[in-house]
Amino acid sequence: MKGLVLSGGKGTRLRPITHTGAKQLVPIANKPVLFYGLEALVEAGIEQIGIVVGDTADEIRQAVGDGSRFGAHVEYIPQDRPLGLAHAVKISRGFLGDSPFVMYLGDNFITGGIRQVVSRFSAEGPEAMILLKRMPDPGRFGVAELHLGRVVRLEEKPARPRSDLVLVGVYCFRPSIFEAVDAISPSARGELEITDAIQWQIDQGRRVEAHEVEGRWIDTGKMDDLLECNRVVLDLLPERREGRVSEDSRLLGKVILEEGSEVVGSTIRGPVIVGAHTRVVDSFLGPFTALYHHVTVEGSEIEHAIVLENTVIRGVSKIEDSLIGRDVVIERSNTLPRAHKMMLGDHSRVSLA
Ligand code: TTP
Repeated sequence: MKGLVLSGGKGTRLRPITHTGAKQLVPIANKPVLFYGLEALVEAGIEQIGIVVGDTADEIRQAVGDGSRFGAHVEYIPQDRPLGLAHAVKISRGFLGDSPFVMYLGDNFITGGIRQVVSRFSAEGPEAMILLKRMPDPGRFGVAELHLGRVVRLEEKPARPRSDLVLVGVYCFRPSIFEAVDAISPSARGELEITDAIQWQIDQGRRVEAHEVEGRWIDTGKMDDLLECNRVVLDLLPERREGRVSEDSRLLGKVILEEGSEVVGSTIRGPVIVGAHTRVVDSFLGPFTALYHHVTVEGSEIEHAIVLENTVIRGVSKIEDSLIGRDVVIERSNTLPRAHKMMLGDHSRVSLA
C-alpha cells in the first residue's frame, strides 16, 4: 500500500496566509497540519508516500525532506496547476504504479488514525473505500448516500442533502481509479473532481464502500476550522515544561513550554503552547492559544489564537479568535493622533473592537 498526500491547491480560503506560505504547514499546536497526516499514514504501515506539490513545493520539501524523520520514504510529484483532486491522482500514476493507495488531503485532520480503514480496505477488497463523518450541516461538503453498506451516490455541496454523511479527505483506491479519472470531464469550476471519479466507478457497478470515522475530522482550509483544530489538539497533548518561568508568573491548567521559551510576569491559563525561544512578558495568554517559535508577546492579552513565527505583539489587549502570520508586528503606538495605522497584505481581515 502506498500513500498519496495532496499538498498543492490554491488555498484561497486561507488568504493572506497562503500568499506567502503553504496552508498544509500552518502549525496546529505548533506542528504543521501536514505532519499529522504523514504520521497517520506511517502508523497504518504506509511508508512509500508521494506528496503532490504546487506553488509551495519548495517550502513543503524543506519541511518534510526525504521523509526519514517520519519513518517514511517521500517522493514529490509536481502539479503544474491545481486542476482538482482527481487530476492530482492522474499525474501520480507513475509513482503509484499497480499499488493500492490511500489518498490523504494534506490540510485534513482526523483523530484516531487510519489503521482500521486501511485494514478493512485490504481485507474486504472493494474497488474504493471512502471515509465518512456525520455532520450537522452536510450541505457544505460532499455528501454520500448509502444502500446496504455500499455507496450508491455522491453529491458535491447539495442544496438538499440525502444524508448527513459527508466525505472526509481520506480515500482508499486501487489502480482502477486511473480509468475513472481518465473518463471524467472537468466540473463547472474547471476541476477534475474526485467525487465524479468515484461516482463513475459506482456507475460502472464497481464496489465502493464506506467507513465511518469515529473521532474528530476537521478540514483546516479556513481560519475558524484551523482554530478549532488547534483547540482539539491542545486538549489532547500532554504537558511539557522545557522553558523558563519567572517566580511572579502564574501557570494554570495545561501549559506546554517548548525549549528555550520564557514566561516573565505573566499569567497563562491553559491549554496553551508556547513555542521554542518565544518570550511572553507581562502578558495574559488564555485557553487554546498556540504561539509558534521566536514570537514575542509583551504587555498583551491573547486568547484562542494561533500566532506564527517571529511575530511581535506589544501592548495590545485583547486579541481573540485570530490567526496571525509570520514576521507580523502589532503594537500600541503612543503618538498622536490616536489612530489605527496599518500595513496589511492583500486579503487581510481586521475586526476592531
Ligand atoms: P482544497 O482545500 O479543496 O482546495 P484548495 O487548496 O485549492 O483551497 P481553496 O478551496 O481554499 O482555494 O484542497 C484539498 C487539499 O488538496 C489541499 O491540501 C490542497 C490539495 N490540492 C492539490 O494538491 N491539488 C489540487 O489540484 C487541489 C484542488 C487541491
